[in-house]
Amino acid sequence: MSFRTLDNLDVAGKRVLLRADLNVPVRDGKISDLTRIERLTPTIRELVANGAKVIVCSHFDRPRGKRVPEMSLGPVAAALGEVLGQRVRFAEDCVGVVAQQAVERMGRGDVLVLENTRFHPEEEKNAPGFARELAKLADIYVNDAFSAAHRAHASTEGAAHLLPAYAGRLMQAELEALDAALGNPVRPVAAVVGGAKVSTKLDLLGNLVTKVNALVIGGAMANTFLAAQGHPVGRSLQEAEMHATALDILSRAKAASCEVVLPTDAVVAGELKPGVATQAVSIDAVPADAMILDIGPASVAALVKHLASWRTLVWNGPLGAFETPPFDAATTEFAKAVADATRKGALRSVAGGGDTVSALRKAGVIDQMSYVSTAGGAFLEWLEGKTLPGVAALG
Ligand code: 3PG
Ligand code: MG
Repeated sequence: MSFRTLDNLDVAGKRVLLRADLNVPVRDGKISDLTRIERLTPTIRELVANGAKVIVCSHFDRPRGKRVPEMSLGPVAAALGEVLGQRVRFAEDCVGVVAQQAVERMGRGDVLVLENTRFHPEEEKNAPGFARELAKLADIYVNDAFSAAHRAHASTEGAAHLLPAYAGRLMQAELEALDAALGNPVRPVAAVVGGAKVSTKLDLLGNLVTKVNALVIGGAMANTFLAAQGHPVGRSLQEAEMHATALDILSRAKAASCEVVLPTDAVVAGELKPGVATQAVSIDAVPADAMILDIGPASVAALVKHLASWRTLVWNGPLGAFETPPFDAATTEFAKAVADATRKGALRSVAGGGDTVSALRKAGVIDQMSYVSTAGGAFLEWLEGKTLPGVAALG
């Protein structure tokens, strides 16, 4: 993985097209989480301090090539201005005369946000003409949108080939953290994978068993593995059609000397409801009318014990149905143990994915991981071992 960073880059008086990921979560018309904006500010501040004209472009939501007013980046530009503590201008189109004139009016250290790139259908088609229109606005291209790098779109991929291209500080931090976690990790390295379905994480599991020393499987996904091995799982969520696949993953893990850690006990209940009566049972004693909703206390204790021997941990997906207490217990307890080991310098911990980030926030330890990726889909594709087009274009 080779890419150029902002180190020693002379941007004074230059127009810099900064591909950001301003695709922030919105609830009731308000931005509900500023993390992506906050993580972007070091790059913008550095460019501003060095006298660049910073032209920020991004997609927002999925307008599918049409101008959808609710998906305008206008309000996001205003929020960026507040976080930066600097005036941020806004152009109502990302290409054409409107964008060009807005850029012409910029001085050194100015920040301009362009309207949603996905208002143009050519963006997602990665149309060369559209990429040229974007590139025309600038002298230098900087990509800080790791979380959109799995998309081969005009603003993430096409434009990168038309200008001298660099990784911004956030992109750089993501790539360095991910490389330290799976590319060249300090071993032993373990991966914890949770979530509901084996079917959506097949490529990921297949890639991980060849890379890590231990693979922990949790969440409802573990039920599929347990059922495939002949354990009774009652009414638990599981994918019967994935049993053969699960067994195949286990044998590939064995061939690669990757230890697979499955739960040995479970917290079960009759239904998934907050505060419902629960029972911890051995994995061979799940009642026929019960559902597995979290891994059990013995399994958590075993994981915490394992942690002491691991030097690197990659985590994607909660261990139980963490949105519904008390089924967040195992995830929270494990998260705290990971945070402890990380704080002591015994472990490098890298986590990513929407649910994982929510679970870590809920456990109050999000700031205590070595690195938490802001990416969802891009983090997963990276765990699958795929080349991300937006990253490849920087090489
Ligand atoms: C994300 O939110 O994961 C990225 O911004 C990519 O968005 P997309 O899934 O709409 O391409
Ligand atoms: Mg999304």
